[in-house]
Amino acid sequence: MSEIEVLPDAEAVSRRGAGLLSELATEADRHARRLSVALSGGSTPKRMFQILASDEFRAKIPWESIDWFWGDERCVPPEHKDSNYNMTREALLETAPIPEGNIYRIPAENPDVAAAAASYERILRDYFGASHGIPRFDIIFLGMGDDGHTASLFPGTKALAIQDRLVTPNYVDKLQTYRVTFTIPLINQGKQVVFLIAGKGKAERLHEVLEGKRDPDRLPSQNIQPSPGKLRFFVDQAAASLLAKASGK
Ligand code: 6PG
Repeated sequence: MSEIEVLPDAEAVSRRGAGLLSELATEADRHARRLSVALSGGSTPKRMFQILASDEFRAKIPWESIDWFWGDERCVPPEHKDSNYNMTREALLETAPIPEGNIYRIPAENPDVAAAAASYERILRDYFGASHGIPRFDIIFLGMGDDGHTASLFPGTKALAIQDRLVTPNYVDKLQTYRVTFTIPLINQGKQVVFLIAGKGKAERLHEVLEGKRDPDRLPSQNIQPSPGKLRFFVDQAAASLLAKASGK
């Protein structure tokens, strides 16, 4: 079951994401639990990170309780302009009072991409303490590209078929590069999986992903069906404009 929330614009989508994260962290902290969060790259999350780092949110978030991970990464050094970690560092990690030990970045600068993915998988297994089974993140944020990709699960790529790994390298022919990405089974164990999607350029693909024929190899976002977790779409009006079943909030 998925839930679609249509919000007025991209700013409202980012605020909704920040609000949800803040609520979940406060709730976890009240029960003396930690909150595991996986982040994505992209423009809407960037704004969400800036909102989280703003005075309004800084003061109310129990930063100590949150552990930060990434659902995918570009194969560049962590200070590179294309690095998802670097984007988060600039927008959030440097400004908010986040303990260094709560940050778990993907070591995707390793030229041995298989080793990079395996080492992140180990980091996840150590953190969740699960030698068997698939870890369950409290919340996984995702974006959707206008080709229907999510995380670095691109149309027609090998990573879409991987069932026995948590993290994998993925060669993306159209970008002529590798990425490191969470696999579908890991994402689908998330307790809450939240897509942040904004802009008119996403409208047609979002309609296809949610209301079109099932074609998960061409539309990787269709593979995201957490169970028993919750799938949520926070989308702006522009991105939702072709949806028949969206209900505004
Ligand atoms: C990445 C992402 C990717 C992103 C989408 C949407 O590293 O590129 O994790 O999956 O979320 O491409 O990006 P936008 O929100 O910028 O459209």
